[in-house]
Amino acid sequence: MKVTKKNIDDLEAILGPSHVLKDPKQVQEYSKDWSKPQETFASCVLLPNHTEEISKILAYCQKHQIPVVPSGGRTGLAAGAVAKQGEVILSLGRLNKVLNVDPVGLTVEVEAGVTTQALQEAVAKESLFYAVDLGARGSSQIGGNLATNAGGLKFIRYGGTREQVLGLEVVLAGGQVLNLNRALRKNNAGYPLMYLFVGSEGTLGVITRATLKLSKKPRELTLACVGVETFPKVVDLLALSHQSNMSVTALEFFSDLAVGKVLISFSGLKLPFAERFPYYALIEIEEDLSSLSMEQFLETAFEKELIRDAVLASSSQEFRDLWALRENITESLSHGYVRKNDISLSIKDLCVFFEKVNKTLEKKDPKIEVVMFGHIGDGNVHVNYSADRLVDHDTFIKEAQLLERRIFSIVHELKGSISAEHGIGLLKKDDLKLVCEELEISYMKGIKQLFDPKGIMNPGKIFDL
Ligand code: FAD
Ligand code: MLT
Ligand code: ZN
Repeated sequence: MKVTKKNIDDLEAILGPSHVLKDPKQVQEYSKDWSKPQETFASCVLLPNHTEEISKILAYCQKHQIPVVPSGGRTGLAAGAVAKQGEVILSLGRLNKVLNVDPVGLTVEVEAGVTTQALQEAVAKESLFYAVDLGARGSSQIGGNLATNAGGLKFIRYGGTREQVLGLEVVLAGGQVLNLNRALRKNNAGYPLMYLFVGSEGTLGVITRATLKLSKKPRELTLACVGVETFPKVVDLLALSHQSNMSVTALEFFSDLAVGKVLISFSGLKLPFAERFPYYALIEIEEDLSSLSMEQFLETAFEKELIRDAVLASSSQEFRDLWALRENITESLSHGYVRKNDISLSIKDLCVFFEKVNKTLEKKDPKIEVVMFGHIGDGNVHVNYSADRLVDHDTFIKEAQLLERRIFSIVHELKGSISAEHGIGLLKKDDLKLVCEELEISYMKGIKQLFDPKGIMNPGKIFDL
């Protein structure tokens, strides 16, 4: 369906002209996310500021069969918020209020356009803690986090976004407003529809408001960075952390190649070791007098020859700098060509996965680098194919796709998933069948048709109808 001038005039009548962007440069900006698509095409950008406006917009769009792309902070990595077919973009950025912190029930009610960081900071003022954290926190929005079911850096301890949600307000394709789960911690009345919207990537409706769980502020956090000789030893370190009964709040790993990219892009950052190691891990724990201290843990790890070197962050600056080595990998890779995989495996299969991947990589084109990092404590490995821009783009894509095929077949063999946390969006939809059986996909399509019979909500994302 083509969006006409009359449609745009009608949408302006709902929102006021200053809240409909038509300037091609601005529209183009909003039609991209962090997956950095080559070609995009949107009709206009809508900037509503409350649920009623969104309801009117969607009722209008359904009536006129206008496709709508819900848009958050556009930090997504699966092209979920990308517009390619002249859609209207519905940006949630003006719904940015933290409405209500409940220090007794340990909940917070927020509008969907609040950034992850703004939420974290707002609840920190009440000495509380919002547990989902990710490198994109400054731009990613709660609506986007919910729509992608973002995982992030503290998943090992607190779970992902799905584990935090207690209530949702959603506007459906026809403009109806659904209030789901009443912000209750316990509620077994019927099917839990709320969870359908978490991870739905804007294809079922627009999330406008959410009530989320808060946690108590962690006690003092201790962070160590360790150098490790082999990947299996990183996994053994994870096992040791479980045995030690420590309160682990994050356990991340990155390869030397990955951190090398950060050291090139961020000249102010340094590796805290005199020599380089093939792998590094960051271990963050909440200090707890009843369990092993970080020093004791590292001592045991040395005795068992799991680690070659270790440093403890001894100031808040060192704490931030060590985390920066991990968090800046995404940004550093974005300076060249990159194709990203976001793989999930049973933790027991991680070592076999690495063995098989390394064998596969023996035959790869030397111009393509394979950069590994991720949330190892959750079985989530980010495999990134990367090349500098001196390589011809078409050659890069061809070679990266070839490698991706081989890696995905290993993931398939090991019954893993091709999306641990970034979602399917436009980029992975051809591979959904590697993770979900035909019957499962047909039920997903049935749900899509039930909520969005005219197919206006983010069409072409996750699957084609
Ligand atoms: P967008 O990119 O704007 O949109 C993502 C999807 O959600 C799209 O399909 C869009 O249509 C839909 N959507 C957005 N808002 C709404 C809404 N209100 N209602 C309905 N649908 C909506 N992801 C992780 O899971 N873990 C990480 O550790 C992590 N780290 C990152 C680090 C960096 C540096 C970057 C750039 C990205 C990272 N990401 C990570 C990916 C990304 O930040 C997450 O997917 C995030 O949740 C996207 O939020 P957003 O607001 O930017 O959503
Ligand atoms: C991360 O863990 O840093 C994110 O998921 C981003 C990425 O995969 O690049
Ligand atoms: Zn991640």
